[in-house]
Amino acid sequence: MSAAWRDMRADDIAGVSAVAARVHPDFPERDEVLAEKRSLFPAGCFTLEQDDAVVGYALSHPWSDGSVPKLDALIGALPAAPSLFYIHDLALLPETRGAGLASLAAARLAEIAAGTGLRRIGLVAVNGSVPFWTRQGYRIAQGPAGLADGYGETARYMLRDLA
Ligand SMILES: CC(C)(COP(=O)(O)OP(=O)(O)OC[C@H]1O[C@@H](n2cnc3c(N)ncnc32)[C@H](O)[C@@H]1OP(=O)(O)O)[C@@H](O)C(=O)NCCC(=O)NCCS
Repeated sequence: MSAAWRDMRADDIAGVSAVAARVHPDFPERDEVLAEKRSLFPAGCFTLEQDDAVVGYALSHPWSDGSVPKLDALIGALPAAPSLFYIHDLALLPETRGAGLASLAAARLAEIAAGTGLRRIGLVAVNGSVPFWTRQGYRIAQGPAGLADGYGETARYMLRDLA
């Protein structure tokens, strides 16, 4: 069967974690960290499912300018007065890429972001994903201090303004 996006469920986390381990071996995050993001802002979290298996995911939530959530760290709570919408990750297993499914998720995330009333979306592009995000309307911007510490020298902070 073809892959399709749906809302992320609590029992998806093991599958999400397995995809993350394959796609982001350099940025390991504990299951509890992934699960916390889903429980803090379920509306921004999606699972790509194929044949009853998790083959991709998206994690996002309201956040604040001037910092990015530390990798593999619990957030505790979302900011009381968020100033931007943050895409923590969008990742697909290699065999499901190139079919427009990530673009579909990026468009859905932008709709969710707009629905929160926030006017900007931020993310950290890794793994050579800058061209993908550029196509989705993001531009490279000055990143928060210390970005390279967790994400590496090639990571780029990117922003998109919402109309
Ligand atoms: C980035 C990622 C989500 C894109 O997934 P995808 O399935 O290839 O994306 P799509 O099929 O929706 O591609 C959308 C467009 O972007 C282009 N594109 C995707 N990745 C690209 C890349 N690395 N360089 C140049 N163009 C790229 C595609 O060619 C396509 O162009 P088209 O609209 O003209 O056909 C996927 O490569 C991935 O999971 N990478 C590993 C995880 C990762 O780095 N995620 C980003 C973390 S910030």
